[in-house]
Amino acid sequence: MKQLRVLAPGRINLLGEHLDYNQGIVLPAAIDRYIEFDFKEIEGSRVLIEALDLKEQWAFSWDELNTSLPAGWKIYVKGVFLLMGFDSHSTLGLHIRFKSTIPIGAGLSSSAALCCGLAFGLNEFYALGKTRMELALLSQQTEHEFAGVKCGLMDQVASLFGQANHLLAFDCISNEITPFELPLNGAQLFLIDSKVKHNLASSAYNERRASMEHAWALAQVLFPNLKNWRDLKPTELARLNANLDATTQKRLSYVIVEMARVQAVQKLANELALLAPNQNPEALLAQLGTCLNQTHAGLRNLYEVSCPELDFLHEAICAQKGVWGARMMGGGFGGCLLVLVSREFVCDNLQALVSSYNSNYGLHLEWIDIHLSDGVYVV
Ligand code: GLA
Repeated sequence: MKQLRVLAPGRINLLGEHLDYNQGIVLPAAIDRYIEFDFKEIEGSRVLIEALDLKEQWAFSWDELNTSLPAGWKIYVKGVFLLMGFDSHSTLGLHIRFKSTIPIGAGLSSSAALCCGLAFGLNEFYALGKTRMELALLSQQTEHEFAGVKCGLMDQVASLFGQANHLLAFDCISNEITPFELPLNGAQLFLIDSKVKHNLASSAYNERRASMEHAWALAQVLFPNLKNWRDLKPTELARLNANLDATTQKRLSYVIVEMARVQAVQKLANELALLAPNQNPEALLAQLGTCLNQTHAGLRNLYEVSCPELDFLHEAICAQKGVWGARMMGGGFGGCLLVLVSREFVCDNLQALVSSYNSNYGLHLEWIDIHLSDGVYVV
């Protein structure tokens, strides 16, 4: 009987938050936190899927799939199967087991890893011939049509196209992906999981996307020759703002500034890569840290997707010795903070932070070490 094991990673994003559905460039990477899938052919024509960590399973026959009304992880499974072309005519017997080291709801894209890993595995198992980009788009479509989250394409691209020790510059207009290195010369990136999971996160996300699409539709009416936000001139921005409500103005200003910050960080990465071994990277790392802090401020004050717990952690971590900068990461309203620290930084100093966070919010934060990894692959 045929068998296959697939690993699908979660992701971080260095910079370019909320830019993937705003025609920007984003800088994500796959990380060494995975969903591991085992695919196995079985007798008969039924499907059995086991979510090992949750101790849940779903067994169905193909003619039940379309009309099923699943919840939780099963929604994604249903979406991927249907969009991959499996339907009531399918006659295969299949057993899938999966388990995960990606914390759920921590902003590390566990749902993208679920969709991408499942789609990739089915594609390999049945030699369906889809490209990685097709699988990314199909996984995004699953989020849109089955989970109701109008996400961009960053998470799926990171999970499918990640490269060990590299970040990706993903151009969300052309879909071009350019891996690049970020030599940190002893400095380090790690995550702090706030453990906050906000129920309204997906509706708040969709609302931001809708307001930005509305702004873009208006921009196209006012400036018919404008191709995308990247080309918007300051005079055009001023004219457009006169037609936008105050909230959308703030969001747009964040987007425009974050786009410029992405360019600045790409330049910094380049300069870090070109440093001679005897040159001190500190000035560049300090600039990188400042960019992270500025993005956090923009997400908090202008795009308004942070929350008190993340802001508390941001302030507290940035007050520590050896921290270059930090920012909330992902869609927002909870999840992780991405932190850049120098080689002098000592994690042990953070016990006081753990306790004060706990006494303020009743939550136990967690450090997550990260290594940049390859995208979805067969083991
Ligand atoms: C979520 C979405 C992504 C992206 C980020 C914010 O992770 O799934 O598409 O928009 O939020 O950058």
